[in-house]
Formats: sequence, C-alpha cells, structure tokens
Amino acid sequence: MVTIPQNSGIEACNTEDSESVYDTPVPDAVIGTLWKTTDSPISPVQIDAEDIPEEPVFPEREQTVIDEQFIATLKTAAETIKSSLTSDLPHKIRENLDQWCSLHNLDGIESEECQTAIARQAVLNLVLKASLYEYYARDRDLPSLTTDAREKLQHPVSGVENAGFDETVLDSIVWHAEESNLVPVLEYRDRLLRSMNPAEDIGELYAALLPSECRPPLGQYRTPSDIGSLMKRWVSAGGDTLLDPGMGAGVLSSPVHPELRTSGDPGYVTGVERSHLSRLMGTTALTLAGQPHSPWAKDFLGLLPEDLPNDVDAIVCNPPYTRSLDIPKGYQEAINAQATRETGLDISKRSPLYTYFIYHLQRFLSIGDRAAVITPQAFLSASYGDELKEFLLSEFDVKALVQYNPANGSVFDDANTTALVTFLEKNATGSDPGATQFIRVDEPPSSSALREAVDTGKPGETDWGFINAVEQCDLMAEDNWQALFHPVAVDTSDLATLGEFVSVHRGRTIGKVDFFCLSESKVEEHSLSEEYLSRMARKGSHIDGYEFSIEDWNENRAGGREVWLLDPDEQETLPATPEEIIPTAVDSEPPVRQKADTNDDISNLWSYLVTGVKEYDLDDTGAVQNRPLWYRPPRQDPTSVLVEFATRDEVRFIWLEDPEIRYSNNLYGFYDVDLTTTELKALLAYLNSNYARHVAQTSPKLAGGYSNLRPKLIEDIPVVDPTDLPSDTVAALAEAFDDMRETDGRDDEILDRIDAILRTVR
Ligand SMILES: C[S@@+](CC[C@H](N)C(=O)[O-])C[C@H]1O[C@@H](n2cnc3c(N)ncnc32)[C@H](O)[C@@H]1O
Repeated sequence: MVTIPQNSGIEACNTEDSESVYDTPVPDAVIGTLWKTTDSPISPVQIDAEDIPEEPVFPEREQTVIDEQFIATLKTAAETIKSSLTSDLPHKIRENLDQWCSLHNLDGIESEECQTAIARQAVLNLVLKASLYEYYARDRDLPSLTTDAREKLQHPVSGVENAGFDETVLDSIVWHAEESNLVPVLEYRDRLLRSMNPAEDIGELYAALLPSECRPPLGQYRTPSDIGSLMKRWVSAGGDTLLDPGMGAGVLSSPVHPELRTSGDPGYVTGVERSHLSRLMGTTALTLAGQPHSPWAKDFLGLLPEDLPNDVDAIVCNPPYTRSLDIPKGYQEAINAQATRETGLDISKRSPLYTYFIYHLQRFLSIGDRAAVITPQAFLSASYGDELKEFLLSEFDVKALVQYNPANGSVFDDANTTALVTFLEKNATGSDPGATQFIRVDEPPSSSALREAVDTGKPGETDWGFINAVEQCDLMAEDNWQALFHPVAVDTSDLATLGEFVSVHRGRTIGKVDFFCLSESKVEEHSLSEEYLSRMARKGSHIDGYEFSIEDWNENRAGGREVWLLDPDEQETLPATPEEIIPTAVDSEPPVRQKADTNDDISNLWSYLVTGVKEYDLDDTGAVQNRPLWYRPPRQDPTSVLVEFATRDEVRFIWLEDPEIRYSNNLYGFYDVDLTTTELKALLAYLNSNYARHVAQTSPKLAGGYSNLRPKLIEDIPVVDPTDLPSDTVAALAEAFDDMRETDGRDDEILDRIDAILRTVR
C-alpha cells in the first residue's frame, strides 16, 4: 500500500477533495494511474507515483477564478444584448426562444426578468464556448477569437469533437448583438483555464448570474464539493464508467485535480443533461479538468442503457427536486406511467421528480454496481415515499443514509432544502443485505470519518453526529425512516390529544348530491337566484393544499365544478313535502299551496324542485324526507378548519378562509375551538407535519397511521399543546402554517422546517 505523499505537488489542490486523497491509502495495483494533462489537452499521460513532481505542474492554477469584476463584465455585456430581445427577432429565433423559456420555466420574453435571464445565459454560453476553444487552441496555432468569433466557434479545431460547441438559440441571441459588445467577454476566455476546480467555479458563475427564481423548474442547484467527493469515491474505486444524470456543472463527476489524474477518478463519465446550457457547463468543466467524458443533451428519464455506447459501472446523481405540482401534467403522467411499468409499484402522483430519477437509474446498474444519490429527505416520511422505500429495499442493499441535520440549515449555497445521501448497491435476488447505517451529521465531519461511518460505522454518538445500524430486513417501507436518525421511540404519553382543544364533526349528509350541489352552468340553466344558494367546498379533491380561499372557490367555479349548495332559508310558500310540489294531472297546478307567480326567483326555485322530484326522486329519498326542510340539507355551524380524511395519502387539515362556506359529509370540520388563531395555526402546522404522521403511526390507538379515521379517532391524535409551548415556537409554527397555505401542495422545505421546530420542543 502506498499513500500519496503530502508534498506531492498536489498539496495546493482544493480543500476536502485533496484532503481525502491524502488520507486514503492507494492500493498497489492502481499506482501508476496518475495522469497529467499538461502536454496534450486530450490524451492524458500516465506517470508513476514516484514521478509526481514536487512543484505543481500548472503553478498558475488558482483556488477560485471567479471575482466580482468577471461577473460584472458578463452582466454588463448581457445588458447590451438585452435590448435586442424585444423586437426585430427573426421568427425562427423567436420560436426557439419560446421553447427555451418554456423548458427553463421563464416567463415570456416580454418580461424584463426573462430578458435579463436569457441575456445572461447567452453571455455565459459564450464565455464557456470561448474557454473550450482556448483550451483546444492552447498548443495548436489557432487564430485569436477577437474577430469572427462566431465562425471560429462553429468550426473550432479540426478533429476536435465536443458537443459543447453545438449551437442553440443562445448563440443566435448573442450574435444578434454587436460583436464589439462581446469583446470584453471574449477577453475572459482563458480565465476558467486557470481554475483549480472548474466545475465549482462554473457552478458559482451560473449562480451569480442567474437569480434563484429561474432555477427551481429544472432544479439547478449544485452539490457541495465535499459531499460530491464522498459520493463519487464511494461508488467507485476509480477507473470505472460513471453515469451522472442531471450533471449540471459536473461537480459530482469531476476528477480530484485538473492536472493530475488520481486512481480514484472515473475512467469515463457519461453526463446527461436536459438543459443545453447546463450540458455546456458540464462538458466545459470536465474538459478543462481533463476528464474523458461524453455529454448527452437528453432527458434522463427517456434514456435507456442500450442508448449508451459503454456499460455503466456506477452512478452519482443529484436529481432535480421539482415538486409534483410543478411538473407539467402530461409529462408527469408519462413518467409516472413509465415508473409504474418499470417497477411494478403503484407510484403516487404526488411524487417529486427526484423519485423518478431513482426508479429509473436502477436500469443502468448490474449486480454489485453502486449508486449514491443526494435528495431532500422528505420521502423518508411522506406517504409518496412508501413506494420508493419499498423499491429501494427490494432492488438494493441500502448501505447507508446520511442525513445532514436540517436543524443546522441547508448544505446548499443557493437552495433552502434538506439533504440526504442514499448509498446503494444493486443486490442479487435473495442475498442477505446486512445492515443499513442511518447517519446523522450535526457538525461537518472529516471526509474520512464520514466514509468510515458509511462503510463500517460503529453505532452510537460521534463527535459530529450519530450512527444507527438497522438490519435491512427489519426495515418496513411504510414506517417513517426519519425517526431512525433520532432513534428514541416516540413517547406519546405526555402529549395532549386534539380533542382537548377542539371537537371534530362530520359534514352533514346532503342526500341526492347531484341535485343539491350545482355548478355555475346548472345555476344559470335553471336561473336560480343566489338568494337560495350557498357557496360550498364539495370534496377534498377540489381543494389544493392547505387552504380553501374565495379565490380557490372562484377557480372551482370557473372550472365547472359543483360550487353551489341549494340552501334556501325556510320558504312559507313551498309545500311541506316533496310529493306536494308536483302539479296534479288534471289541473297541472300545485295541489296544496299556490305557487308564487309574482316572484320570478321563487318560481324558478319551485320549478327546479319539481325537476328534483321528477328526475331525482326526492320524494323517494329517506335522507331528504326525514329532515326538517326537505328542500335543503341540514345546516351546520360555521368552521374555520376542514379535515380531509379519506384519501390514500395522509389526512389534511385545511384552513377555510370563509367559515360560511358549506361542506358535505366527505369532510370533517373543527368545532368548539378553545385556542387563539395563532395557537390554532400552530396546531395545524403540527397536524400537517411529517412528525405528526409519525406520531400517528406509532400511537397505539392510531396504529397503521392516519387514513380513514372517524372523527372520534381524529380527536384522539396525540398533539403538542400549543397553549403550553413558548410563544416564539407557537409564532414560528403559525408562520410555517401560513407559508403552507400559500403553496398549493406539500412543500418539503416547509415540512422539514416544521419538523425541525417540533424536534426542539419534544
Ligand atoms: C440539482 S441539479 C444537480 C447538478 C449537478 N449534478 C450537481 O450535483 O451539482 C439537477 C440538474 O438536473 C438537470 N435536469 C433537470 N431535469 C432533467 C432531466 N429530466 N434529465 C436530465 N437532466 C435534468 C438540471 O438542468 C440540473 O442541472
């Protein structure tokens, strides 16, 4: 065994990456696989370990090459081309630009923000291509880029085939501007060549140029380099073909050092990117770092193993974290159907995009191959995660899950989300998977300590966190795995119950819902006056997220849903039973009381009720006959909270903006609320949290979780007592619930925030 000497000339290389190289003994068999890329940019030269020079090969390499001046130059150039984006764009460019905007979820090109984003993307595209050109030109006598740059970039160097030079609409935009505006950008063409860590620098440049609002749809956030390095080194001892789906700037697949190839580096990288600009970032970073690779501009979920020329040996992946609600509907249906086909599981439509990446990547692996994936941790406790956990348990030896404690903030520079790294090895059917390490990182550990924890960690507290080893065959998909990072059994005995603060009642039975619940068009068809109608929330599936507001009601109305309840006050002129409203065959007049023909509104109501008896058999419906007024469902007191209880997923506790809105018996409501509004909202944050779901799962009374609970059992849910919590905790929970109300669905970041607050009080 030989360890790379501390004074090997790569001392100056980047922090954690280089430290991990030094720490790790290199097997004899791989000594001699250190390459340098000085002489030829394309073919690395193999050298012996003893020949590693004392001094760095490229003394001019810098820890970071991104400075404010560089960023400002690119922003200024972007401003100069922005004006060309509004008018005069040829039709074809305009069309391509619209497609580009739609893929990157940018508003139309008319918006100022969108123009800025596109112009900056275009300038970044230019500086990356110019850097690639400069890289290949380094030892070839190529003309400078300061004149006819576009022509030269289109046909860079004969014999050089780099997909990064492919043209996109960004090139059309850049070259629509005056070339003189771009000269300052081209002057930066050698800047990235000096980078010690091109992937990191390019990622930083991207983040500095593109506001984070432009990134969520494609989930363009980069992995911190120390975490990326751990993932890469775990999946492969080096020399393998590494697949990097959603490669971005290539942080996960870049070699340790741009000039020296170490035994731990990939032999070959297949990078897959949906965004052409990200693919250019990735291929530029890997090229400048001397890493042999092929960059694919493709949707990873549409890529098959047989599309690739090489077998994949290992996978590193930071997939996009896009929420299910933000995935375009048609696409979401297609990938859900594909994942269902590929896995044989009934996959929840609430699954975020990253889960589909995990389902799909399994196809590229053979027995013994490894994958490391960084994702948010929400799937460990959310109900859509049950299928994913089942899938992981059946297809892989789940070697370790490393959770970066969310209570300590995000590990990502530019995204406020939790981080969990899942370490997987493709298993052989029937083999014993052994133990899974649940590792909680509270303080940043050294890379060697974390690597050891993943491989063989001894259970218990450590200086930096906690390790829990659980036999994989004891893990159940439907359990909340988050609890395993804090393996203190949840003791619900000192919790209050929901019933101590509210009572829960089911909505009233409507009887003949098709008649009593009406859409706007039906109201218009029968000319019914609003005087006899109340607004209603017909069912849980008509409510997105955690609030039903007047705006939501209006959306339902516009969407043709039943939003009105026939709900007149008591009417003297109407008969007391449904039978009496039907005109007799002889005189065609109502037999008992006289229809009020002076009032159009009541006469229209009368006619509608006649339809109800004739077409909906109101006179033969027990629920209608046995209530005080047959022509309207029984009324219920107003409520501010609805409960959706009968879904396959967890129970939802929903804020009702207007308490007068009616609801039916497929929802419950809160009554007798003995809390302030802030306390009630804090309680709702708790009830909607993953933490409460876990409590419900482990509570003896609610064994099996939340679904299909009767009101009495809902009142039995163990809850934190909001009247007994510190006021700042109550305020923080209430604020988190307000944030939940503003999003249309489950937002993992907010849920994780609530869980973190709750952990501090338990
Ligand atoms: C979270 S970023 C990770 C970037 C990089 N691998 C890293 O770790 O820093 C996810 C990347 O996936 C890309 N992406 C999004 N949807 C994709 C898809 N369907 N197929 C391939 N790449 C996709 C995005 O453009 C983005 O660059």
